[in-house]
Amino acid sequence: KDNLQVAIDGPAGAGKSTIAKGIAKRLGLFYVDTGAMYRAITHKALSLNIPLDQESAIVDMAWQSDITLDHTEARRVYCDGQDITEALRTPEVSRNVSVIAAYAGVRERLVDLQRREALRGAVVMDGRDIGTYVLPEANLKIFLTATSEERAKRRWLELQKAGKMVSFEEVHQDMQIRDQTDQQREVSPLVPAADAIMLDTTGLGVEEIIERIISLINN
Ligand code: C5P
Repeated sequence: KDNLQVAIDGPAGAGKSTIAKGIAKRLGLFYVDTGAMYRAITHKALSLNIPLDQESAIVDMAWQSDITLDHTEARRVYCDGQDITEALRTPEVSRNVSVIAAYAGVRERLVDLQRREALRGAVVMDGRDIGTYVLPEANLKIFLTATSEERAKRRWLELQKAGKMVSFEEVHQDMQIRDQTDQQREVSPLVPAADAIMLDTTGLGVEEIIERIISLINN
């Protein structure tokens, strides 16, 4: 099972990273959070004050950036050697990431890094285009969904726990805009792969979803 590949895609807040981390832990797989890579580039563009509509400047920056994921349970994310983990989930990064993720040159760079990560061994990877583009030969492709209210509620609770004061409405609205941008972009839009298994997680517990996916892996 050295080359097992599990692809988990879906809209924001569907539970992808929680589920993917749980599966990685249970089965001893590498976990690759591809959204963190798009967030890292977005964070870097914002901190360098590169205007987000300057596509070629951002693409050049992406090719010059070194993004590494820590594969211990701490799951730190480094950009150019600096630990930027805490900066990746701010509302500012969340609001701008889908603009940058629509740039073909940025995607080319990050997909290259993602495929290299997958060469480490058995892997579970989550994102938007893993089953359709990054790992088209994955053994199992899951497309996680949930109602937009439930997804926004999960994200809002996460932010509350982290002490971030934002309204539910704001989170819900930002999330809908981001999903729309992800679904409508030209390069690798958010869409289920033809051979993906659809899993609606509304009202399901984390353990229950992990169990279902593990039984799909084993069958
Ligand atoms: O998964 P997460 O919500 O952290 O992803 C942040 C954003 O990164 C997504 O809204 C999307 O714009 C982009 N993304 C992507 N392709 C991926 C993973 C994330 O375009 N494989």
